[in-house]
Amino acid sequence: MPDIVTMEVDRGIALLTLNRPDKLNALSYALIDRLMALLDEIEVTDDIRAVILTGAGDRAFSAGADIPEFTASVAQGPNRAVRDFVRRGQAMTARLEAFSKPVIAAVNGLAFGGGCEITEAVHLAVASERALFAKPEINLGMPPTFGGTQRLPRLAGRKRSLALLLTGDSFSPAHALQIGLVNAVVPHDQLLPAAYDLARRILRHSPLAVAGIITAVTRGLNQSIGEGLEMEREQFARMVPTHDLGEGLRAWAARRQPVYTGR
Ligand code: COA
Repeated sequence: MPDIVTMEVDRGIALLTLNRPDKLNALSYALIDRLMALLDEIEVTDDIRAVILTGAGDRAFSAGADIPEFTASVAQGPNRAVRDFVRRGQAMTARLEAFSKPVIAAVNGLAFGGGCEITEAVHLAVASERALFAKPEINLGMPPTFGGTQRLPRLAGRKRSLALLLTGDSFSPAHALQIGLVNAVVPHDQLLPAAYDLARRILRHSPLAVAGIITAVTRGLNQSIGEGLEMEREQFARMVPTHDLGEGLRAWAARRQPVYTGR
């Protein structure tokens, strides 16, 4: 049986591919659990320093939560539905958002529901010109459940988000770019090269500094400015005794390229 999420590692970058193309890469419980297990593995593998997340097949990044599967959870009442479906999906998007290594979505096609919520949660996103986004949960008579009512308004603003959440209308990659959901839109055949290029431009830098910036931004964004600035001080203080900060400063003074060790 093919792996439900595949992983290929190339020069420090893990490419994770959601692999249920016949179901438009819908996020079954098993797929979410497998993705979480791979993230656990990547986190403790020093040689992997960035993640690119994409979808298998030529149609979808992901068409969202697996509807027949969570329909069965809904039939068992609110407690089971929240435990099996909502908590699982929220844990996935929270894990992606707080992951200490950069996660880049390469949105290759439909990013509906949970597929859009993954794009909202990850640190960076590149979309193919063939991508199509939607917040279609309202068509099913429900609000989004994997963070979709929380992260999009923080990214795109309240009214822009409410228009998408309340209509369920699909929207173009150009609109996703305009509202800050993706960083770039590229021709379809340039999608993975663009994602790798972005990852490599980050990999030049100290992994400690990269992790510190991700933590300060993602956690600080959801706090007051005072708490966020405290987070920024903490992240800097943690770097003061490290080789990498000393190396960055020495290299600047010597007008040479720094050599980082991640220590
Ligand atoms: N969960 C489970 N299966 C899904 C799915 C989902 N979210 N989205 C698509 N699929 C399956 C379909 O059931 C179909 O499987 P089948 O061939 O075994 O019947 C296959 O993927 C292809 O989808 P299909 O609906 O035939 O493609 P389409 O081009 O006609 O429509 C969409 C594409 C995206 C408009 C449509 O699939 C859809 O509305 N999906 C649900 C999107 C959604 O609401 N996501 C949020 C869930 S909270």
